[in-house]
Amino acid sequence: VRTGLFSQPRSLAPKYFYDHKGSHLFDQICETPEYYPTRTEAALLQEYAAAIIEHVQPDHVLEFGSGTSRKTRHLLEAARQSDHSMTYWPFDICSSLLHDVAGRLRSEFPGLEINAQCGDFTAGIEHLEEPGGRCLYLFLGGTIGNFDPIAAEEFINEIAAHMRPGDALLLGADRVKDTGVLHAAYNDEQGLTAEFNLNLLNVLNRELDADFTAEDFRHKAVFNEQDSQIEMYLVAEKQQSVYLGQLDRVLELEQEEAILTEISRKFSRQSIRHLIETSGLVETAHYEPDNGWYSLVLAGKPHLSD
Ligand code: SAH
Ligand code: AVI
Repeated sequence: VRTGLFSQPRSLAPKYFYDHKGSHLFDQICETPEYYPTRTEAALLQEYAAAIIEHVQPDHVLEFGSGTSRKTRHLLEAARQSDHSMTYWPFDICSSLLHDVAGRLRSEFPGLEINAQCGDFTAGIEHLEEPGGRCLYLFLGGTIGNFDPIAAEEFINEIAAHMRPGDALLLGADRVKDTGVLHAAYNDEQGLTAEFNLNLLNVLNRELDADFTAEDFRHKAVFNEQDSQIEMYLVAEKQQSVYLGQLDRVLELEQEEAILTEISRKFSRQSIRHLIETSGLVETAHYEPDNGWYSLVLAGKPHLSD
């Protein structure tokens, strides 16, 4: 927070959105008519889950940023339907959500072994427990778009380094589309995305003894065509000084000064393939809806003889 807030341009890492309230707000955003990624990806998973399970035959499913695991249920259900036994390893930064979700899944899928892990995937995944056996790694929701291009490549490289021949990665990535559709998705009418963005200030107030006043900021989300990314900002409505107790620093903001809180990159079919291939993985399947709004890519580690 110190590095991001006290340098120019000012920024905060999006991982701070996801306290208990932020996770709940994200879940509500997913239900809005404007936020198409969730339902688009869910439809793809529903259609292809059985084929994915059949193809990968995973002993373990490890999911980064699992959230409510709602869409993952299609894979869990497909495994159950085909009597395929596997364990589920959700990994998320929000411990309260992880705990609730694990409890709910245990009653929905009795007999399914769930090993929930709480942590920060941007801090390196080398300490992640290796379950042994064939693994299907999931990184869904388009969360890869919240990484800048270098960090995205590094993260996919890290996953690829963890993978052994036979393992697979299922990656969800949002695609470039009409700017109006993108703009609406990040500026929903109910104001839930605005609330989600502004909640970040409550997180800083609580965690760092800061004295931000949320009413003194407004939500802004714009599509930067050149970088092909939505950029979310918190904009100061007036000149102000904010004290961050834990940092023992005062943040001086001018009126209209903006803090970048999230980027959400929008990919082309080619740029996703490039991301996969630069990590040494090979694309096994590339699922997309007819309108090309979203990509769900299954990738594997080539066998040494390939
Ligand atoms: N995969 C879900 C949730 C996407 S929202 C879906 O597709 O709907 C992003 C999720 O990643 C949230 O659950 C959030 O808590 C988690 N997350 C964000 N940053 C994280 C980090 N640095 N480490 C671990 N989890 C993180
Ligand atoms: C989690 N992530 C993929 C979401 C996105 O669309 O970039 C977070 C989000 N931000 C605003 N609305 C949703």
